[in-house]
Amino acid sequence: MFNELQKLLELPELYQETEAAFWDDDYISKQMLQAHLDPDFNGASRKLDFIEKSVSWIKEILPPQCYPSLLDLGCGPGLYTERFANCGYKVTGVDFSRRSIAYARQSAEEKSMVINYYQQNYLTLNLGAHFDLITMIYCDYGALSAANRRIVLGQIYHHLKPGGKLLFDVFSMEKYNGFQEGQTWDLFKSAGFWREKEHVVLNRNCKYGDNVTLEQMIVAADHDLKSYYLWNSCFTEAALIQEAEEAGFQVCSVYGDVAGNPCNEKSLTIAILLEKQPDCK
Ligand SMILES: C[S@@+](CC[C@H](N)C(=O)[O-])C[C@H]1O[C@@H](n2cnc3c(N)ncnc32)[C@H](O)[C@@H]1O
Repeated sequence: MFNELQKLLELPELYQETEAAFWDDDYISKQMLQAHLDPDFNGASRKLDFIEKSVSWIKEILPPQCYPSLLDLGCGPGLYTERFANCGYKVTGVDFSRRSIAYARQSAEEKSMVINYYQQNYLTLNLGAHFDLITMIYCDYGALSAANRRIVLGQIYHHLKPGGKLLFDVFSMEKYNGFQEGQTWDLFKSAGFWREKEHVVLNRNCKYGDNVTLEQMIVAADHDLKSYYLWNSCFTEAALIQEAEEAGFQVCSVYGDVAGNPCNEKSLTIAILLEKQPDCK
């Protein structure tokens, strides 16, 4: 076990993927779902009052009368999709978490709502449909490597109608500058987020070049040792605009968040609204 641990303590390559697919782990995905559904926790989803503000702002600037079909990528258990549907959009949600999609489907069914849900990886998205508006909310974009960001923007471009819009958010340099490097450990005598039984979590936060941060969790329980990586790229406004334009999008506006607050040097996030040009690509 010591050799294994020593290996896991070596710094991973930039955007090295976690071997264990924790979003589909039976126990961890249950904790993740709980985190999404907690209205007062900015964890897997933002707090509910922000979500409400965000949806009403999106409805105001991109009304369903002009953008009837909406695709929400990384929709989780459907906190946004149901609200979008209530605004009058024809909504499709995609997430690769089986548990989130199962919850979202059941919730829509119980409320007699018509929302199309697909359990798919948005890097290999294949919906055979084109949308007026695509959203990807809560800084998922920066969790992807530069190569995967190009892929997801390509997939989105392909799934948008000409003149269609894309709205997404990323963490800003304010977030990067405030990110504290360090190492800590925690002993859980009983169930915690990562395991159902007694376990230890070794935590490492570090900054990489190119405004990338890594949060690593090494979880030790019984004879089991697993490492999980949470990567994040933070952006300047200029860098975000450059990536969007390189993918063929036209930049419509930049905001401080997906609730329409203005962007300034204190904003922890940047939200960007893009348009697929009718006549290019
Ligand atoms: C930070 S959460 C945000 C969820 C939701 N947008 C919200 O704000 O409530 C990111 C979501 O994206 C999903 N996700 C991450 N990578 C994905 C991928 N490659 N394909 C599909 N879904 C993905 C996760 O399962 C998770 O539900």
